[in-house]
Amino acid sequence: MCGIVGILGKSSVANNLVDALRRLEYRGYDSAGVATVEDGTLDRRRAEGKLRNLEKRLLAEPLAGRTGIGHTRWATHGRPIERNAHPHMTAKVSVVHNGIIENFRDLRAKLEAKGHRFETDTDTEAVVHLITDELDQSNDPVAAAHKALNQLQGAFALGIIFAGHDDLMIAARKGSPLAIGHGSGEMYLGSDAIALAPFTDAITYLEEGDWAVLHRSGADIYDRDGARIERPMIKAVASSLLVDKGNYRHFMAKEIHEQPEVISHTLANYLDMAAARVNFPDLGVDLANISRVTISACGTAYYAGLVAKYWIERFARLPVDIDVASEMRYRETPLPENGLAIFVSQSGETADTLATLRYCKANRQHVASIVNVRTSTIARESHAVLPTLAGPEIGVASTKAFTCQLSVLACLAIAIGRARGEIAPEQETALVTALTEVPRHVAAILRNEDIYLPVAQDLAKARDVLYLGRGSSFPIALEGALKLKEISYIHAEGYAAGELKHGPIALIDESVPVIVVAPEDELFEKTVSNLQEVAARGGQIILISDAPPEKAGCKLAAHIPMPVVDAFIAPLLYAVPIQLIAYQTAVQIGTDVDQPRNLAKSVTVE
Ligand code: AGP
Repeated sequence: MCGIVGILGKSSVANNLVDALRRLEYRGYDSAGVATVEDGTLDRRRAEGKLRNLEKRLLAEPLAGRTGIGHTRWATHGRPIERNAHPHMTAKVSVVHNGIIENFRDLRAKLEAKGHRFETDTDTEAVVHLITDELDQSNDPVAAAHKALNQLQGAFALGIIFAGHDDLMIAARKGSPLAIGHGSGEMYLGSDAIALAPFTDAITYLEEGDWAVLHRSGADIYDRDGARIERPMIKAVASSLLVDKGNYRHFMAKEIHEQPEVISHTLANYLDMAAARVNFPDLGVDLANISRVTISACGTAYYAGLVAKYWIERFARLPVDIDVASEMRYRETPLPENGLAIFVSQSGETADTLATLRYCKANRQHVASIVNVRTSTIARESHAVLPTLAGPEIGVASTKAFTCQLSVLACLAIAIGRARGEIAPEQETALVTALTEVPRHVAAILRNEDIYLPVAQDLAKARDVLYLGRGSSFPIALEGALKLKEISYIHAEGYAAGELKHGPIALIDESVPVIVVAPEDELFEKTVSNLQEVAARGGQIILISDAPPEKAGCKLAAHIPMPVVDAFIAPLLYAVPIQLIAYQTAVQIGTDVDQPRNLAKSVTVE
């Protein structure tokens, strides 16, 4: 993650920008920098490493100016050196950026062909030159920024200032959070309200696809087409500044919507985006010599492991044994020499998972854990830790942690496959490129959230719900059932679609909604047969698929359209509709979505 800030101040802003950046260091601290407009001219100071290095730089070389932006970096493209540090700038424009610009290579090639000279290895620099190029043609900063924004692909948050414009800042949000702060004769911009707490608690959160033009008198907010829109100004309550719900009604909703950003940051930790290759840390074991992988976890984390079984067996050609930790810890399963045991846990404190980790360690397995809490017990007792960068997950129902777990596991499967010589360089490039596109697809799915309301209104009346899936969609069906039952209290079961005829079909009648997770992959036609078996018995089918509804060959109660993507990344994308279905159904029923009855966020007892 990176942190971005901006201030349209009444006096010099450099020190206040640093104060705001200090509150964003949790988002990354590979380098930091600030840029300002003084007497119409853009200038900047940057420093590698922690924020204190930037402070030293500013002491030695003060920076004047009442209009400024700042950035604390967590490197995704380009090494964490000063040359690659934000803010990036030309003589006309300076930009700070959080996220990933997916089409930066194409943009850079076009701009270089027009004579633009690039100095860094970053994706962000393409944004600076693109806006400059538009400005060269129109000499209108707002129009230039708007045109440039519509050419960007990916998930990003941006802060932009212009030479010669002391009372202008442009902000844009697409997949990464961004908040506007309202002061008295001053305006602020920050990756979250935490950054702005020293200046104001009057906050407006930009929504997906919003962009804004800030002046000291206020902010005008626009949608992608340039139409003015209104966003509420809220009071960020001091006590919740550390983690607040923003514009969302529940933490779960906020965390579902944080997925484009946190998936991109998690992926960036394990991929070299520019080279389109996996850049996996050393696990302390030779991945080429692993004899077998054992995976164990609980609940949603277990389902992430189950998806990984399909990926590792298919792409690394390595057998995977997986079980819920509460069973594996007592099975006394024999474990092989040179085995790798992987534990998945959001909290890193789940008792059953920890106990199974200790069993595997005592049986000479090399232990790696995928956790969201770096300092957790499971992390401390592992030989290797693979962090998810989901940020704090407050909702008891796990959402962003799940897709970040899948992100790490997808990269691990490729790393093992490459080490074993099972994945050729061109296949690795294709798989990594597909992963890089996940944040954009997730952001697009989230923009379409309204279509889930009628589905939720019907499900809210159901007594029993069935979820079906095949292949790597089967664990997603299991996760969908878990999400629904744990927050709406409706009984739901996930089944391998092929198992329907071996019993569960007896459940089907007009009162039973059947939610089918079915990307149009090589198993799709098999699942179509199951759809027709359900339809023939009056089952109410909700199909989640990139296939058009007519391909189901039967009547559907609802169709949730999905983007056409490589089957490899389908589990990451299809996790989002099942989260939204569960969330909106629970809201219809009125349960306590963030703290459902009988549950706890971390089950530290067995
Ligand atoms: C998921 O929505 C549930 N809250 C629960 O199944 C959870 O995934 C499980 O308890 C494991 O927790 P952990 O990831 O912290 O180990």
